[in-house]
Amino acid sequence: MAAATAQPAAHPAVSLVNGYQPIWWKEAVVYQIYPRSFQDSNGDGIGDLNGITQHLDYLQKLGVNVIWLSPHYDSPNADNGYDIRDYRKVMREFGTMDDFDRMLAAIKARHMRLIVDLVVNHSSDEHHWFAESRSSKDNPYRDYYFWRDGRPNPDDPAHPLPPNNYPSYFSGSAWQYDAATQQFYLHLFAAKQPDLNWDNTKVREDVYSLMRFWLDKGVDGFRMDVIPLISKQPGLPDLTEEQMRDPSRLWANGPHRDEYLQQMNREVLSKYDVMTVGEAIGITLPEQTQITNSQRHELNMIFNFDAVRLNRGANYSARPWTLPELKAIYDNHARVLGKADWDTVFLSNHDNSRLVSNWGDDSTPEFRTRSAKLLETMLLTLRGTPFLYQGDELGMTNYPFTRFDQFDDIEVKNLYKATVLTGQMPEAQFVAETRRFGRDNARTPMQWSDAPNAGFAPASAKPWLAVNPNYTSINAAAELADPESVYHFTQRAIELHHAHLAFVYGDYQDLDPTHLQVFAYTRSLTEPGKPAQRFLVVLNYGQKPVAYTLPAGIKAGKLLLANIPSTTEVGATTLHLAAWEARVYSY
Ligand code: GLC
Ligand code: CA
Repeated sequence: MAAATAQPAAHPAVSLVNGYQPIWWKEAVVYQIYPRSFQDSNGDGIGDLNGITQHLDYLQKLGVNVIWLSPHYDSPNADNGYDIRDYRKVMREFGTMDDFDRMLAAIKARHMRLIVDLVVNHSSDEHHWFAESRSSKDNPYRDYYFWRDGRPNPDDPAHPLPPNNYPSYFSGSAWQYDAATQQFYLHLFAAKQPDLNWDNTKVREDVYSLMRFWLDKGVDGFRMDVIPLISKQPGLPDLTEEQMRDPSRLWANGPHRDEYLQQMNREVLSKYDVMTVGEAIGITLPEQTQITNSQRHELNMIFNFDAVRLNRGANYSARPWTLPELKAIYDNHARVLGKADWDTVFLSNHDNSRLVSNWGDDSTPEFRTRSAKLLETMLLTLRGTPFLYQGDELGMTNYPFTRFDQFDDIEVKNLYKATVLTGQMPEAQFVAETRRFGRDNARTPMQWSDAPNAGFAPASAKPWLAVNPNYTSINAAAELADPESVYHFTQRAIELHHAHLAFVYGDYQDLDPTHLQVFAYTRSLTEPGKPAQRFLVVLNYGQKPVAYTLPAGIKAGKLLLANIPSTTEVGATTLHLAAWEARVYSY
């Protein structure tokens, strides 16, 4: 495909909106596709690129305008594509480069954009860089990864101990012994995901070059996988006991992180009109601005984990949380991030359980649809570019897992070995917690219809991961036919978001930070020479009906969006909210 879209990214002549530099990615609504689970077009039970192309009209009708595609590159799939073997090749199961080019052209033809996943903290151990690297100590690629001698093992001298005490995110040590050269290599994730050594200038140049390859094809930017981890601690000393409680904090704040991101921006990103969003594991809110402040020329925005992990303890354990805690997170973001920063808003993705099961209420069909709509309302009216995950627009739920062997995810399998097989956790508790928070919940196939395999794959195929049995009632075909469905509601909420810049650049004010059940906030925007835009969002976050008196003398104006169709209380100061009721008013 022809396509260099290289052009300067800055638009200095455009005037500010409420102090913000207006730009397309701030105004976008992003939709994440996990290609393995979206649509199988050729009957092998695995989603593919042609399957995505088939559904672009569905996405365009929904109203999203940027697609984030989880990794589509050649991979042995130890971690479903987050372990890349060849950055310039399409995963065989997903199709060919021609399929990719056709998909991209079809996205552009619909005035949508595509960002792709950039997974460069690590590669696959099957990448040719690693094959070279592991082959000998003096191979030119040796220094592309982190190789170290083990520590002497007094109990068993033939089996040295790992070079330091780093744990892997996927359980066990972050070091793998390699017999060929009798050294260990570092892998913060799975053993098949060796960490790249960004301190090596050749590694950085190779990464920039593969980025240019995709940008020159016309992709509109990157979601950058665990990007703050690229700068390792000099000398890789042991973690202290304190650091061991949350190693990400140290790992995300290495000495060269900003220098490398600035170099990447200077040499690559600044030459294209693109958006970037970093998955910012380990980054706290005050640190966020070091990466996103536009004067620093690093990334446009990051995913901060503070909200999405509020209800999680260690591994898949639950942490009790309250609505004021969640509200405080959004309030703090509005306070701490300035006009030169930009934020994201999301509560689900391929690494977390389903939006409605995790944050809403899937206990009855009525509460499921209502709370799913409430959550979409929230995501599309809070500050920041909203990121929606595939299937959440249908109110898809967690899968009713009952046994360990139903899970596919490497994170789950390794955690099982480390906890259940060592006797630290009973199997029943492990399955219950993984059922609640395991990543496979989000990865079950899209439910397109009530046909066999939910229309994800032909009836004769065996989907790579089981379809949720509730597909007979929860599916896109049924929802497209029902004007009151979660799909159509999400479409209206997206339309509202796109219709008013106040939802993008407007000020945010939490009206009632301590209320235990109601989340009420305003978004307002005053632009010179234009009528003020003022919106009021009121969410009853729970099953209990409530008579809620608006604070600060605010009166509800025109009702613009509601998840219970009959509701009207225009001009009211006390609102009678049913279970999980959500309303957006002007005021
Ligand atoms: C990110 C991805 C996750 C993956 C991990 C390692 O957290 O979102 O899916 O397992 O990085 O690449
Ligand atoms: Ca397929």
